[in-house]
Amino acid sequence: MRINLGGTGLKVFPLQLGGNTLGFTADRDTSFRILDAYASAGGNFIDTADFYSVWAPGNVGGESETVIGEWLESRGCRDEMVVATKVGMLEPYTVLDRKHIDEALARSLDRLRTDRIDLYYAHQDDLNTSQEDTAAAFDGLVRAGLVRTLGASNFSPDRLRSALTLARQRGLHSYQVIQDEYSLVNRQPFETGTMPVAVEFGLVNIPYRSLAKGFLSGRYRPGGSWQETTHTSIATSYLEKYGTELLGTVETIARRHDTTMSAVGLAWLTSRPTVALPLSGVRTLEQLDDILPAAGLVLDDDEVDALTALTAPSD
Ligand SMILES: NC(=O)c1ccc[n+]([C@@H]2O[C@H](COP(=O)([O-])OP(=O)(O)OC[C@H]3O[C@@H](n4cnc5c(N)ncnc54)[C@H](OP(=O)(O)O)[C@@H]3O)[C@@H](O)[C@H]2O)c1
Repeated sequence: MRINLGGTGLKVFPLQLGGNTLGFTADRDTSFRILDAYASAGGNFIDTADFYSVWAPGNVGGESETVIGEWLESRGCRDEMVVATKVGMLEPYTVLDRKHIDEALARSLDRLRTDRIDLYYAHQDDLNTSQEDTAAAFDGLVRAGLVRTLGASNFSPDRLRSALTLARQRGLHSYQVIQDEYSLVNRQPFETGTMPVAVEFGLVNIPYRSLAKGFLSGRYRPGGSWQETTHTSIATSYLEKYGTELLGTVETIARRHDTTMSAVGLAWLTSRPTVALPLSGVRTLEQLDDILPAAGLVLDDDEVDALTALTAPSD
């Protein structure tokens, strides 16, 4: 199963595997098993960043890229995979000028054991470097054949618009994909902020935190008990507002489609303007099995409407 990722020329499985668990909450062996299982299910689209997982004690960043690179090499499958990574959050590569971007890319290529990146994101904006310098640096990577497509993550709508306008005026390669936080239970500020810019410039959107850190799987219920993980506090923050009616509706729709709640939560995203496909990270093979049915799941219009109404942002 492959879809066109907007006008990027990339053909991808309609569920991207997030990489911030790989080499972090999933150790190397588990990460290999997850990657093997994802590829066996037809998956070909992996997301990572130089920044993953610098926050873990003893890590320096690049651990996720390293595991993915070792896996790509050991399976000999680099040409079958579409690899996305990012620059801009890992010190000193928070400076988005040519010197820093070139250096960060070289390190990512090395860790990923490859000679090109399919989708390279600015992980966050850099307000201290001129947009002209950043645009020229990213454009240069595409012209050199080191990067196929560019993306922007976590930009303010105004800065994204001005970066895109500048690149357009100068005929430079620029961002075609965005990655921002967006899910059924977290719709703002994306819907009124960056989404209109994405519509205006024809960008495709691959949102992160799309499973609300596991909340939409139904694993956390009001009055229930659960295993604590690094994500429990974020996931359970949605319980009071959305724990009963929303999860009940997601569950009913899942039963109707004979699928998982996670798949329904992720499929709702695909119904939204600009969203190309969902992206989620998993810690275990069981979690992967639970999210995989999202690939290609299409909800009925009345199901989408019901879910959309239940989480409509209040003014
Ligand atoms: N651009 C950015 O700034 C940015 C920021 C964050 C993430 N990302 C990317 O987006 C990907 C996904 O984002 P995310 O990890 O923040 O959010 P997410 O996909 O909403 O949540 C993933 C977490 O939810 C839990 N989970 C996953 N599948 C589950 C299932 N089937 N049942 C129950 N729990 C499940 C796991 O946490 P437990 O350990 O609790 O089980 C997993 O680590 C990342 O891997 C990364 O590639 C990008």
